Amino acid sequence: MNTEIKSHITKEQAIALENKYGAHNYHPLPVVLTRGKGVYLWDVDGKKYYDFLSAYSAVNQGHGHPKIVNALKEQAERLALTSRAFYNDKLGEYEKFATEYFGYDKLLPMNTGAEAVETAIKLARKWAYEEKGIPENQANIIVAEGNFHGRTTTIISFSNDPEARDNFGPYTPGFTKIPYNDLQALEEAVKANPNTIGFLVEPIQGEAGVMVPDEGYLKGAKEICEKYGCLFIADEVQTGIARTGKLLAVQHENVRPDILILGKALSGGVYPVSAVLADDEIMLAIKPGQHGSTFGGNPIAANVAIAALTVVKEEKLAENAEKMGKIFREEMQKVVDSSKFVKKVRGKGLLNAVIIDDTEDSDTAWNICLKLAENGLLAKPTHGNIIRFAPPLVINEEQMNEALDIIKKSIAEYEQENL
Ligand SMILES: Cc1ncc(COP(=O)(O)O)c(C=O)c1O
Repeated sequence: MNTEIKSHITKEQAIALENKYGAHNYHPLPVVLTRGKGVYLWDVDGKKYYDFLSAYSAVNQGHGHPKIVNALKEQAERLALTSRAFYNDKLGEYEKFATEYFGYDKLLPMNTGAEAVETAIKLARKWAYEEKGIPENQANIIVAEGNFHGRTTTIISFSNDPEARDNFGPYTPGFTKIPYNDLQALEEAVKANPNTIGFLVEPIQGEAGVMVPDEGYLKGAKEICEKYGCLFIADEVQTGIARTGKLLAVQHENVRPDILILGKALSGGVYPVSAVLADDEIMLAIKPGQHGSTFGGNPIAANVAIAALTVVKEEKLAENAEKMGKIFREEMQKVVDSSKFVKKVRGKGLLNAVIIDDTEDSDTAWNICLKLAENGLLAKPTHGNIIRFAPPLVINEEQMNEALDIIKKSIAEYEQENL
C-alpha cells in the first residue's frame, strides 16, 4: 500500500457520509477515489486503477495534467471571476483561440454540457424567429430517440429514457423525436413540419451505449438540413475534443455543424467549461441581456480551456485515440470471437462499448464492472448489458495492453463464475 496517498477517511466513512448527507441521485460503484494522475486513479486504501471512464470523457487529457493545472492555479491566483458585467483580459483571448481552433466566427461560453445544449436550443429558436420568420412559439427542433443531452427540464422533455423523464413534467414542447440513424425519418419529419428549425444530434450516442451510426448518416443529415434551410446542431459534449480519433466526431464525415456544442474535455476535466460555437449570422441573433451566466466565460475557465485545447494538439491526442482505439477493438473482437458471453464491441477512437449477451435491465454489466474494479480497472455500465470503455486519451500502448489483460481476465473470471 502506498501510504503517501492515503486518505484522511476510510472507504466506509466516505460512502456513509455521501449516503447520509447527499441526495441519492447517483448510484456509484463502491470505490472511493482520492487521487488521479494521467490514466490512473487511486482509492483511499492506495489501490491503483486504470480509469476507463475519464469522468464521462471529460478527462481526455489525463488526470492532473501539469499544463492545465498550472493554467488553473495561475489564473485563480490572479483573477477568478468578474461576471460579464465587465470585460476581463482572458475571455477575448480564449474566444479568438477557440474560434480559430474550431473554425467558427463566434463562441458563447457556458459552464456545463446541459447549459450549452440549452444555449444552442435558445440560439436556434432566436435565429429562427428573427432571421427565418417562423411564427411565434411554433419553432420545432428534431431530436433522435435514445438521445442524452443533459438533465435540465427542457432537455429531459425530449428524452425517451423513463429514468431521466418520469414525473418531472410538465414537459417543454417544440421537439419531435425520430429514430437515430434513419435519414428517411429525418427528411420526412422535416418535410412534415414547415416550422422545423433544426436537427439536434449526438454524432455517436454515448449514454445510449456508444451507438455509432452508419457511415454517411451525419453527412446525409447535414445535407437534409441544408436542403430545407434548418440548422444542423451537433452535441459533441462527449464525442468532441479528440475522443473519437478526430478533434470532432463530425469530422469523420467532413461535416461542419451550423451550431457546435462542446463541454467536458474542453477544460481537461479540471473545471466546468462548455461552449456553443456558430457563425455571425446565427450567433448575433442573441443580443445583450438575452442570455448569459454568472460564471460563463470567467477568466479561470478561459485560461484552462486554452491550455486544455493546446494539450490536445501538442500531444496529438486525436491520433493517439485513433491508434489506441484500434488496438482496443481488435483485441476485444478476439474476446467476442471466443466468448459465448460477450456479443459485440463497437466504437470509434477511444469511445467504445462492449455488449454482453443479456437483457438491457440485467445487472450483468454492473457485476462485471465490480470484477473489473477488483482487478484494477474502473468502467461503468451505460445499460445493464453494455459497458463503456473510455480511458484518457494519453494512454500509451503498454498501458492499453495491460488494461486489456485486466478486462480479458475479469470477463473470463465472471464467465467462469456465472455460466
Ligand atoms: C452528449 C452529451 N450532451 C450533454 C451532456 C450533459 O453534460 P453535463 O453533464 O456537463 O451537463 C452529456 C453528459 O454526459 C452528454 O454526454
